[in-house]
Amino acid sequence: MTSIFFSPRGTTKKTARAILGHQEKVLERDLLGRPLTEEWTLPAGEPVLVSMPVYAGRIPGICREMLLAHLKGHENPAIAVAVYGNRDYDDALVELQDLLEENGFCVIAGAAFVAQHSIFTKVAAGRPDEDDRRRMAEFGAMCREKLSGFAPDAHTPIHIKGNRPYKKAKGVPFQPECNQNCMKCYACAKNCPTHSIPLETPWLTRTDTCISCGACIYLCPTQARGYRGPVFEVAAKGFEAMCAKRREPELFF
Ligand SMILES: Cc1cc2nc3c(=O)[nH]c(=O)nc-3n(C[C@H](O)[C@H](O)[C@H](O)COP(=O)(O)O)c2cc1C
Ligand code: SF4
Ligand code: SF4
Repeated sequence: MTSIFFSPRGTTKKTARAILGHQEKVLERDLLGRPLTEEWTLPAGEPVLVSMPVYAGRIPGICREMLLAHLKGHENPAIAVAVYGNRDYDDALVELQDLLEENGFCVIAGAAFVAQHSIFTKVAAGRPDEDDRRRMAEFGAMCREKLSGFAPDAHTPIHIKGNRPYKKAKGVPFQPECNQNCMKCYACAKNCPTHSIPLETPWLTRTDTCISCGACIYLCPTQARGYRGPVFEVAAKGFEAMCAKRREPELFF
């Protein structure tokens, strides 16, 4: 099993691991640390789990581009997973399904799981929780069963919730700011997936290229980086009220 994920704040990676449990021989590919830069064709028959965080109801644009350009299969079975912050996953899961089918994979299962919102962190705080992890493990077991009977010739695309054409993704108007706690360790600049933090001045953020993924906040050893300011605080309050109702995992086979 190959497990591919992009997980700037860590919950998508946790979800992928909870789905696969203690399966042996899982090859992990973290697109944050090791982006795809050249064609990667999976060996015939190798199943793949692709897990993506939801950004504005879609999969992150940089992941879409690199997966579409480089990840290839020859009727390999695939599992598509979207992890979202309790607002909605909108069209992210169908987008991932379509991308994988287009690149030669047979999507045999899909799931949307909830995790702490990586910008408005009071939303879905503490998730995935015990119940979520149980559902993830159950989903993994159901996928294994489906994989054991997989025959590419009999594959027809499964039904997954979402719109086609996809809704247009709106940009996120907040980017991390840095305060005086920066001790110039450069961890943020070295790990930013869009190179939006200059190495010479890591307390700055290039707002035109930053995708608000939050990796720099997560990695910063001094909590120098974060979403701050009165406009953000007001938006966070509104968002917390709007997304207060607990959403549950949704599975598709
Ligand atoms: C730029 C951005 C946009 C987001 N858009 C949505 C969204 O449309 N719906 C939602 O429920 N959560 C949204 N989230 C929350 C993430 O999908 C969620 O927190 C996810 O667990 C993050 O994964 P990670 O911990 O692996 O980085 C967004 C987060 C970011 C950073
Ligand atoms: S600067 Fe923006 S894109 Fe780079 S790690 Fe921070 S939030 Fe992500
Ligand atoms: S990770 Fe934090 S302390 Fe290190 S350079 Fe970036 S902002 Fe400064």
